[in-house]
Amino acid sequence: MEKSIETIERIRKSMGGRLAILGHHYQSDAVIAHTDIQGDSLELSRKISALDAEHIVFCGVFFMAESASILGRPGQKIHIPDASASCPMADMAEAGRVEETLDILQKDGRKIIPLTYVNSSAAVKGVVGRFDGSVCTSANAKTMLDWALGRGDAVLFLPDKHLARNTANFLNIPEEKRMMLPRDVIDGSPALSVDPATAADKKFIIWPGYCPIHEEFDVDAIRRIRADEPNARIIVHPECDPKIVQAADGDGSTTYLIKYAAEAPAGTTIYVGTETNLVNRLAARHAGEKTIRPLAISVCDDMGKITVDNLAAKLCNLETDAPVVVPEEIRESSRLALERMLEVCS
Ligand code: 13P
Ligand code: SF4
Repeated sequence: MEKSIETIERIRKSMGGRLAILGHHYQSDAVIAHTDIQGDSLELSRKISALDAEHIVFCGVFFMAESASILGRPGQKIHIPDASASCPMADMAEAGRVEETLDILQKDGRKIIPLTYVNSSAAVKGVVGRFDGSVCTSANAKTMLDWALGRGDAVLFLPDKHLARNTANFLNIPEEKRMMLPRDVIDGSPALSVDPATAADKKFIIWPGYCPIHEEFDVDAIRRIRADEPNARIIVHPECDPKIVQAADGDGSTTYLIKYAAEAPAGTTIYVGTETNLVNRLAARHAGEKTIRPLAISVCDDMGKITVDNLAAKLCNLETDAPVVVPEEIRESSRLALERMLEVCS
């Protein structure tokens, strides 16, 4: 580890502005210490095109590096220290299944606008781009859903069912206008049982994916905290089940959670329902002034695949490394989907 730290800092110094290292808030402290820019998914997407660096190393999961590659400038090379760091939720939507589902839902002539959470593959973003849809993050889901609802007869929101329902609750979309797709859109059974007739009067169609890390929180834990520590506050990420979000004092993106902790008065106790690396960082940052605790311990193993050692190894091989490349046939349509989001949320 010591040697890797030395290597990273030596290479950062020698490459100067030719290198930018980006890190998502769920990365470990050890990795975050070597990043130039930290952020939530929206902030990181926004920053890519403004970067001059020739090499961008993305410390996060693969879909984030793909988005960086789509939004990067020509000639810019995007690297990820471990390309096997995937997002289990993103893997619950396969591009072929998404396209097939959209074709079925549009059979009766209705216009369905797909809105994909940024936690999805470039191939899925490509399908969404071709069907006139766009992308959202946890920070702008309300704005983007509102945008999508105004552009067709219904919206297909994917892959996160919890973010979908939390956002629909916020926008007051009635339950009877919503529909959850059957699980077979995820599990790869040969024939899809999606029936356009059941969706005919629906405005909001939900893909049944979820983040396993944000499934770990439960309402009983919140009840216990309310009983034992009535003054404690509870904030959660909107990838949590709506029951958790409704029982909490607030919900939002990782940036929202960070800001909430920073702005709470001294002496406050805050329980945070999200990935543990971020909660631990907030606890350390505010130690002695506020008490920050995890609502439950829940670690994203894929985020944890990025380490100081594989970051150092990647930096040593930047010139020969094969960068993350999104195939040309997907690139243009996925860029369109992402750029629609950046334009709406500029
Ligand atoms: P945000 O940082 O955009 O809130 O996303 C959380 C997440 O799960 C990323 O994988
Ligand atoms: Fe995916 Fe959940 Fe891990 Fe985020 S925390 S990368 S949504 S599995």
